[in-house]
Formats: sequence, structure tokens, C-alpha cells
Amino acid sequence: MEAGSKTAECEANKMPRRDFLAWLSGAGVVGSALAGLVATFFFMKPRVTFGQPNRFLIGKPDDFPAGSRLAIDTKRICIVRDGERMAAISTTCTHLGCIVAPSATGFLCPCHGSQYDVDGNVTGGPAPKALAWYSVSLTPSGELEVDKDNEVQMGTYLNV
Ligand code: FES
Repeated sequence: MEAGSKTAECEANKMPRRDFLAWLSGAGVVGSALAGLVATFFFMKPRVTFGQPNRFLIGKPDDFPAGSRLAIDTKRICIVRDGERMAAISTTCTHLGCIVAPSATGFLCPCHGSQYDVDGNVTGGPAPKALAWYSVSLTPSGELEVDKDNEVQMGTYLNV
């Protein structure tokens, strides 16, 4: 009698187990679809971090007095004003990339002692080559624009 009642109990539980498995399968399908959608969303979202633009405005020519050599460390350039001529010289040391500082004789690197003259030519230390010069132009609004993607020959000035 007891064995018969166990069989009857199993028969009674057969449908709920099927329902549970069907529900579990459905949940797996829906879960997979949601996970796919979330992954697609994050895949479509750009994960690029853009650096500083290489073309930027630095102010008007009058912001730079004649004879000045003003380093802008955040841009890694030195703005030189020689009379009515202006230029932008890189302040990134050509040895290992430290920021050089303008000095009385030109530029001096604090890392390993490379020295450059006022035009950026190497005069001492381990630096393998001269500092780069970048294009400087005037915008229609009268502001100076430096383009670090456009390297120019040493001694190329903009007349202002
Ligand atoms: S990084 Fe300037 S001398 Fe080494």
C-alpha cells in the first residue's frame, strides 16, 4: 500500500517538474538574449579616450612681448617672439621625452642634462637631435594657432 502511494506521489509531481524545467529553459533563453543585448550595447559604446588636440589656439600676438620665450608646459611648446616674428618650438627633449625648460642659453633638460641653444640645436648631453619646430598661423579672429602635426624647418617664423 505504501509503495503504491509513493508511485502516486511521483506521478503527482511529474507535471510540476516539467513545468519547472520548461521555466528554467525559458529563463536561460531570455537571460542569454539579455546578456547579448547588454554586451552589444557596451560594444557599440565608444571606449576611446582622446588626447589633447595637436592643433590649438594660444592667444593673440600681443600676449607675447617682443623678445619673450614663453614655455607652455601643458602643450609642451615654447612660444618665441623675436621682434615681429613668432615661432613654436617643442619642449619635449629628444633624448627620453622630458620637458625641457627655457634657460639663458637656450633650453635645458632637467632629466639627464641635455642642452639646446635658443633654436633648439643640441649643444650638450645625450639628446640625439634638435628640438622640433611647429607651424604657427594666424586665424581670421587674429589668434595664434599652433599645429603640432605640422613640423616645420628650424627657423620658420610667422610674421605678425
Ligand atoms: S630626457 Fe632629456 S636628457 Fe634625457
